[in-house]
Amino acid sequence: MRVKKAVFPVAGMGTRFLPATKANPKEMLPIVDKPLIQYAAEEAIAAGIDELIFVTSSSKRAIEDHFDKNYEMETELEKRGKRELLNILRGIVPEGVSCVYVRQPEALGLGHAVLCAKPVVGNDPFAVILADDLINGGDNPCLSQMVEVFNDRQASVLGVERVDPSETNKYGIVKTTESKEQLNKVSGIVEKPHPEVAPSNLAVVGRYILTPEIFGLLERTERGAGGEIQLTDAIAMLLKDQAVYAYEFEGKRFDCGSKLGYLQATVEYALEHEELGEEFRAYLKSFICDVGLEG
Ligand code: UTP
Repeated sequence: MRVKKAVFPVAGMGTRFLPATKANPKEMLPIVDKPLIQYAAEEAIAAGIDELIFVTSSSKRAIEDHFDKNYEMETELEKRGKRELLNILRGIVPEGVSCVYVRQPEALGLGHAVLCAKPVVGNDPFAVILADDLINGGDNPCLSQMVEVFNDRQASVLGVERVDPSETNKYGIVKTTESKEQLNKVSGIVEKPHPEVAPSNLAVVGRYILTPEIFGLLERTERGAGGEIQLTDAIAMLLKDQAVYAYEFEGKRFDCGSKLGYLQATVEYALEHEELGEEFRAYLKSFICDVGLEG
């Protein structure tokens, strides 16, 4: 079994970013010059995925437009001889990669959003990427690392990282048994546990590879934490029947669903940016001096 499909749940409301997300999807917020959803799509494509499945809602048209051809703009760029920009636009969806859109009629939770992709995913293993968790994995992006684990184990894999124990109530937290370096077998999972009762501080972040049996379980999942249908609850059922692994990926994650994480990502990606990096570094240095932040 190979992972060739990725689901991008993008039907959430993005309330933490209001008013920026009133008319604009959170996933279209740019980090320097690329929207979050494009970073996510690029990570999937780099991992060998050739079908991108977006679970959208009525206010997310901009995402479809972003991955669609823009004839007018391309013609205009061609007329002006702007080849480089034209290639950037044409490279957003490389040849051989297709995009599919399904609607989540109501924001009933992440688990429900994933379930909406069932008719397109069918009976294949698939990845789930939450675009607001931006992960800088350098030359070896997070999903590529996870696909390698999947190919070896042929079982579901959750991307996890250690979080401050006081923050377990923001994440799905796993309990693990056998562990081998970065790979742990999951024996339990719970959504947003209070730090006092959390089974560990290993938090699931926005990367999953799941076997298709998850769909039958999602159909039986009732509303859980926050009144939402939680993917975590369906995974808790899955691991009673199948092995599920937690993989501590290499790379740095930015929680771009929060304003602080978004700002941190902007600064770090700007410092790494080919065109801007040097100038931005010089600016930051002088700014830090000016405001007396050094040391
Ligand atoms: P979040 O918990 O970040 O919710 O969802 P949100 O609505 O996007 O943002 P806030 O908290 O109101 O600011 C995690 C991911 O699950 C998707 C979101 O789009 C996001 O990528 N999601 C969530 C759905 O697609 N549908 C839902 O019903 C809920």
